[in-house]
Amino acid sequence: MKYDFDEIINRTGTSSLKWGKYEGKDIIPMWVADMDFKAPPALLDTLQQNIEHGILGYTVIPDDLNDTVIEKLDALYDWKVEKEWIMWVPGVVCALNVACATFGGPQDKIVTTTPIYPPFFAAPENCEKKLVTVPMVDINQRATFDYDALEKELKENTGLFMLCSPYNPCGTVFTKEEINRIVELCAAYDVVICSDEIHSDFVLDKDKRHIPTASISQTAARHTITLMAPSKTYNIPGLGCSFVIIPDEDLRHKFNSKLKGLIPNVNLLGLFAAKAAYKECDEWLFQLIIYLRKNRDIVQNRVNKMPGCKLNPIESTYLAWVDVRNTGLKDPVLFFEQAGVGLSDGNFFGQKGFVRLNFGCPEPVLKKGLERMETALIKIK
Ligand SMILES: Cc1ncc(COP(=O)(O)O)c(C=O)c1O
Repeated sequence: MKYDFDEIINRTGTSSLKWGKYEGKDIIPMWVADMDFKAPPALLDTLQQNIEHGILGYTVIPDDLNDTVIEKLDALYDWKVEKEWIMWVPGVVCALNVACATFGGPQDKIVTTTPIYPPFFAAPENCEKKLVTVPMVDINQRATFDYDALEKELKENTGLFMLCSPYNPCGTVFTKEEINRIVELCAAYDVVICSDEIHSDFVLDKDKRHIPTASISQTAARHTITLMAPSKTYNIPGLGCSFVIIPDEDLRHKFNSKLKGLIPNVNLLGLFAAKAAYKECDEWLFQLIIYLRKNRDIVQNRVNKMPGCKLNPIESTYLAWVDVRNTGLKDPVLFFEQAGVGLSDGNFFGQKGFVRLNFGCPEPVLKKGLERMETALIKIK
C-alpha cells in the first residue's frame, strides 16, 4: 500500500496547538514538532475499534505491548530489554521532569548542552535545582559535544546529565564513539544520564544508525534512563503515551517512587495506539522516512541559497536548525511571520540568531513556506 503524505489536511478549528497559534492569519505554521500527516491507517483502525466498543475504562498495560517493544528494540538495535525495566508514562517531558526531581540531591546541579529542546531548561527549574548548560560545538558542519567543557561541569556536584539523542534541534545522530565518551564521563563522576531518544526513528541519512545510550555497555546500562515514545514517529503526540527504560534496579526504584501518586497512568487510547504502531505500522514508517528525506533535501538545498541563511546537513529529525545571523534581522521570527511562515525562535532553545523549521508537512506546503521565506529575504537584501 502506498501512503499519501501529499494529502493536505485542514487542521483549522481542531484546537491544534500548531495551527491554532495562527488561526485566521495567512501564516503557515512550521514550528512545534507535530507533523501534518495523518497517523497510520492501522493505528487509526485500532482507535476506531476502541471507540466503537464504547467503554473507555481504566486500562492496564497490555502484556503484548511490552513484548512488542522488547522485540522491536532487539530487532532495531540488538538491545536486550527486560519487561520489568519498562515503565509507561504520559509524556517524555513528564519523565524528564521526574528524572530531574529524582536524581541528585538539592545542592547538586543538572547539566545539559545547548541549543536544546526548551523543556530541558524548565525541568530542573521546576524542581528547584540548578541547571548548567554547555554549548555544543560545530565540527565540520555538525553539532557535537565539547567534552572538556562538559567534564569541567560533570566532575563537580552533578546529579544528572540530560542528553537528547538524536539531537533536537541540530539533528545530529551520535556515533558509538561520541556516546561512549559521554557515558565514560558520566560514569567517572557518578552522574545519571537521562537519554531522551524520542527522535530515534527519524534517522534520515542512510549510512547512519541510532544507538540507544544504554545499549552500548554494561556501564551505560547502569547509569542510563532512556525515554522513548511512539508519539513523534507515528504523529500521535496528543495521545500522551511514552515509556521509560531503566535497567538498573536502584535507579528504577528511585524513579518509580517519584512517579507514585503524582503521574497518571497512560490512557487506553494511547496504549492501544502504541501497540498498533509498533506491531502494524512498519511499512508506513518506512515510507514516511523516504518522504521526509526528500523534504529534508528540499529544505537543505533551498535554505542554503537564501540570503544570509546557513543550514548544516540534517542527519535526523524533521526539524531544520537554520542559522540566520547573517541576515541582519533583529527579530527573525517576527520577520518570517510577516512573510507568512511561523517558525520556532532559537532564543527558546538557548541560541539567538537561529530559527527552527519543521518540515514534517506535505511537500507543496513546504515549498510554499520556503518560497515565502526566500521572497521576503530577497526583498531586504
Ligand atoms: C527532544 C524531545 N523530547 C520530548 C518531546 C515531547 O515529548 P512528549 O510530548 O512526550 O512530552 C519533544 C517534542 O518535540 C522533543 O523534541
